[in-house]
Parts: sequence; C-alpha cells; structure tokens
Amino acid sequence: MSGANAKNILGIETSCDETAAAVVEDGRHLRSNIVASQFHLHAQHGGVVPEVAARHHLEVILPVVDAALDEAGCGWSDLAGVAVTAGPGLAGALLVGVNTAKALAWAHGVPLLAVNHLEAHLYANWIEVPGRDYCEPELPALGLIVSGGHTDLVLMHGHGVYRRLGRTRDDAAGEAFDKVGRLLGLGFPGGPAVERAARDAAATPPRLPRAWLRGSDDFSFSGLKTAVLHAIRDEASSPLAVPELAASFQASVVDVLSRKAVDAAAREGARSLLLSGGVAANGALRAALEERSPVPVFAPPPVLCTDNGAMIAACAYYRFDALRAGWDLDPQPAMQFC
Ligand code: KG4
Ligand code: ZN
Repeated sequence: MSGANAKNILGIETSCDETAAAVVEDGRHLRSNIVASQFHLHAQHGGVVPEVAARHHLEVILPVVDAALDEAGCGWSDLAGVAVTAGPGLAGALLVGVNTAKALAWAHGVPLLAVNHLEAHLYANWIEVPGRDYCEPELPALGLIVSGGHTDLVLMHGHGVYRRLGRTRDDAAGEAFDKVGRLLGLGFPGGPAVERAARDAAATPPRLPRAWLRGSDDFSFSGLKTAVLHAIRDEASSPLAVPELAASFQASVVDVLSRKAVDAAAREGARSLLLSGGVAANGALRAALEERSPVPVFAPPPVLCTDNGAMIAACAYYRFDALRAGWDLDPQPAMQFC
C-alpha cells in the first residue's frame, strides 16, 4: 500500500516500436507496467518502419495509459508527474508520446517531465525486483547502455552527472544482433532469436573476430557482421549450421562488451556496473559481466531491459526538478544526455 506522501509518476514511452506506460512509486516500486509491442507489425519488413510505428502508437497509446493507471489503482489526482520520452528516437513515434503526455498532464493539472530515453535505461536498475533484496547502485557507476540504436559506455557520478567514455563507431550492439538475425534467417527482432539459436550450438563454435579498438572505450560491430556474412558465403558448399554462427557471433559481442566495460569500471574506480538497454536481456552478456566484474553488477529483469514506461518514470523521480518541461515541449529525435 502506498503512503500519503508517496510520489507516483506515470511514465510514457513511444520512441521506437513499443507503446508503453507504467506507474512507479518513489522511483523504485513498480505499481504497473504495460507494454504493447509492435514487433509483429515490423517482422515482415525485417526492421522497424517509422510510419507504421507512429500510426500504431497513435492507435494504442490511450488504452495503454488507461491500463497502466487501472493496474496501479491510480487516479490522476494520485500522480505527482507525467514523464515522457522526449528523445532520442523516431520523430513520428516520439511525437505521439510527447503530445499525449502534454495533453493529459495539462488537462489534469499534473507536472510534465521530459526524459532522455538512454538515461532512463540506466534507471531501470533503480526499480525493485520482487523476490530480490533491494539494493541501490553505488555511485560512481559504470553504465553500459546496449540497445537497438545505441551502445554507450558512461560514467555516472550522480543523478544527472555523467561523463561519456565511449560509444559505437558504427552499428549498435542490438542493431548488429538484428542484422545477423536477418542474415541467418532467424526473423526480427534478431537479439532474442540469435540467443535462442546459440543455445543449440556445439560446445566450441568457430571463433569470429573481435574489434578491440585498443586505447579507446569505443566499440565497432560492423566488421563482425561482415565476418558472419563471409562465413555464410564461404561455407556455401558445406554450410556451418545456424546455431554455430549465432553462438560465434554472440560470443564475440559479449566478449568485447564485457571486457571493455569491466576494464573501464576498474580504471575509473566505479563502485557498481549498470547494464541496461534491450541487449542487457541477453543471458550470455549478463553471465560474462557477473563473472568478470570486480564490482557488483546490476541488470534489470528482461522486461525492464527492453523499452518500457517504468524506466521513464523512475528516471523522472530522481531528476524531477531538472526534467520539468513546459507545454511547448517538442520531441528531440537526436537528443543527447552526456
Ligand atoms: O532498448 P530496446 O528495447 O530498444 C531501443 O532503445 O533500441 O532494445 C532493442 C534491441 C533490439 O536490437 C533487440 O534485438 C535487442 O535489443 N535484444 C536483444 C535481446 N533482447 C532484445 N539482444 C540480444 N539478446 C537478447 N536476448
Ligand atoms: Zn531503448
């Protein structure tokens, strides 16, 4: 039961292909979490079609918000804020969330908060997980944000205080999973499909290259994707099985991500490591970080790794004053947070 002074925030997320809304109390207690995924609409195209995404957000956003409030047992008067993803993301998709949040917040006299989607991914690690002892990440923390559009390594000194260490120079980790999933005929989204296929591989699948980019915290995955393509073509006469290729690709991505994150955490004196973004749902990546990290690893449950409204609400709670927005808020498709 929530106390009289509890601060409930409604979080709305429409930056890509999930229409999501959630209510989070005091930045950590999840009262509801509704995610309407569109992947079935985009699967036939092998990727997200921006116009289709925006149109579908528009169709389902109000029912999704209603369901989040219902499940939380919340009325508008119980809300301390309406938080929405302002960027980065697809312009038309963001516009639906931003305009919906503005209209609802204005109509109900509730403060509006503009949230950066990537910063919010980190805050999924502040949400309580049923059955797990609650433990707040110690700062400074090393954040590894691995999603469909981004691969960022950041040092978080405090709420809203970040330093970027590195990013991908070409494909994002999730994008590489999606492209390799397509090359292997595994469908969209590729991440979960590649992970499933890899489980059936022989014990020691062939080794694919790793782009270490020594001396830098940046990443690169496009060469690896090309190596998978060559492996498929070269083996045309006696093809390597899909599970072996999936496992080799995944091992290479996981090796680079985990070693570079762990090295940066040690070098920068981080006290915890925060894994976040859709690729954080990957079991092999989680296991490698757990095994290698010198500091405690935080990884949200898979449902809070991929896009959701709860992380938007949690981020808005910790950054409430800084993220207050006016009624002239516009989506910012290329928004940066550090
Ligand atoms: O964070 P997210 O839901 O959306 C963006 O902000 O981009 O991340 C989606 C990405 C997709 O590329 C998807 O293939 C990847 O996360 N993903 C995974 C897994 N689950 C989702 N990648 C690897 N293993 C997974 N289990
Ligand atoms: Zn995301």
